[in-house]
Amino acid sequence: MNPAVPQVTVLDAGGQYCHLIARKVRELGVYAGVRPSSVPAGELAGARGIIISGGPASVYEPGSPSVDPAIFSAGVPVLGICYGLQLMAHLLGGHVAKGERGEFGLALLEATAASPLFAGLDPARRQVWMSHRDLVSTLPAGFEVHARTDTCPVAAMGDVARRLYGVQFHPEVVHTLQGREILANFVLSVCGCRQDWDPRQRIPGILAHIHQVVGDRNVFFFVSGGVDSAVAYMLCLRALGPARVRGIYVDTGLMREGETEFVHHVFDAVAAGTVRIEAAAERFLAPLAGVSDPEEKRRLIGEQFVRVQQGILEEEHFLEGDWILGQGTIYPDTIESGGTANAAVIKTHHNRVPGIQRLIETGRVIEPLSFFYKDEVREIGRELGLPEELLARHPFPGPGLAVRCLCADAQAAPRRVEDGWLIPLRTVGVQGDSRSYAPILALEGFPSPGAGLHDTATRLINRRRGINRVVTAAAWRAPLEQLQVHPATLSPERLARLRRADAIVRRLSRQGGFDRLIWQFPVVLIPLGTPALPDSVVLRPVDSVDGMTARSVEMDAALLRRMAAELLEVPGLCAVFYDLTHKPPSTIEWE
Ligand code: XMP
Repeated sequence: MNPAVPQVTVLDAGGQYCHLIARKVRELGVYAGVRPSSVPAGELAGARGIIISGGPASVYEPGSPSVDPAIFSAGVPVLGICYGLQLMAHLLGGHVAKGERGEFGLALLEATAASPLFAGLDPARRQVWMSHRDLVSTLPAGFEVHARTDTCPVAAMGDVARRLYGVQFHPEVVHTLQGREILANFVLSVCGCRQDWDPRQRIPGILAHIHQVVGDRNVFFFVSGGVDSAVAYMLCLRALGPARVRGIYVDTGLMREGETEFVHHVFDAVAAGTVRIEAAAERFLAPLAGVSDPEEKRRLIGEQFVRVQQGILEEEHFLEGDWILGQGTIYPDTIESGGTANAAVIKTHHNRVPGIQRLIETGRVIEPLSFFYKDEVREIGRELGLPEELLARHPFPGPGLAVRCLCADAQAAPRRVEDGWLIPLRTVGVQGDSRSYAPILALEGFPSPGAGLHDTATRLINRRRGINRVVTAAAWRAPLEQLQVHPATLSPERLARLRRADAIVRRLSRQGGFDRLIWQFPVVLIPLGTPALPDSVVLRPVDSVDGMTARSVEMDAALLRRMAAELLEVPGLCAVFYDLTHKPPSTIEWE
């Protein structure tokens, strides 16, 4: 159920930023929704404004996303962003030139004509973020150039009379310093939208919707300990009362230290003993013994989820008439281009248990948050009285610590190369549009702040073929030349070691407030060490918007030193590394 009629519709042209645009508009207090770009103009009646998102395609590629040209003559203001601008130019009779090299990164915007989009901007903060190959080379009739940059002659264009605008840069990303003001100028001044969106005020509507869908049946959830399923659960509990809502948390044995206790404690406090914990560690760990291939691990874990869930559904008689399934699906999950490919794999497993599939097909699923973004889910959770320690949690992958505990089949020694040491352990990366699986380059020496190490990492990966990740050593009990990669699997001992390390990192990053500056902080265990100290850990703090791309975050040297020192106290740990690589070229998780 859509909680409101969107005042602004973002047409998704395949860009990873379309959800970001809609979120930014909602942050202005204006309800925005995302639709596929091809939606007929007739279905957009009622919108006060339309935004066409960016996308990876070129307007001349066969099958590239397009929009119904009637949207340009409906009298509704339209803003095209990046590919959206090019599409607007192309469909209205202008020309788009194929860019050879493209332009990726920061640029300075120079206004060349008065535009309502740029009203009231501070001329001293002209930085914008560009990411494009093609360029508008000829304007459509009625348009004029509103801004340029050094390398982009049509950085903004508009037809003020028809209220059609386009910008080549991305106002929705933080690197465009006045992006928020530019979006506000479009949404509030040009479109005249009302600022009446507050997700907390939607709670009564959500509760009514739950009543309507559930009727006199009951609801069960598989809760994960994450924010979305917890908030969705609490909404159902609020709507239906504790007698009609049940939750099950599956302890896979691949959770972090204290996780199961945390879930128990939180739900006990707010959900009156309605959540049961299913202890299933043995069922997950047994099939994983001896497996070292990352995708094989994922496959086995997914398969096991299916079995365990199916067992619970049958045991609890949840497949029978008076029960329906609740899920914490949020807005980006409902649209294929959102979310992450990896996350989709495990979610598919969770949501496609044959029993659950049947429930979906027969209308026996309730997803109360399917129109909300994460930040809005947090606000709703806060309003419902959920504790901050739950709401502020970082995302955690479905396969848990299994994808953070690297395994190896054979003994191998790091090899000295020009820039450091090549570690014979492979990790996953994304280069071009495809997955890479390559060894790691370790730089020597303690990272000093401001040393441009992240730039060095990027440069090295671009220059040196066959690597996708660069780390630097932060502390060690033995020098790199004495370390070896050795055969290792997902043993209980190694998982316990990783759990300890992860708990230390979490505690210290919370204490210093560092956890609030980042999106996620994987801690990875690698089988690199000496016979007495067989493993090392890697710190991987990243900042991201949606997990699709991420920036390795610079760590304060004092915090890094402190973490590394405490980590080396963990029995069996030999060295601490710090991952310097952005995504792309590497992924957030190591496998
Ligand atoms: P990557 O490693 O692909 O991660 O850069 C992007 C985001 O997805 C999470 N992730 C997963 N989540 N199952 C999940 O539910 C998985 O198999 C999986 N792999 C990665 C990762 O933690 C990050 O937030």
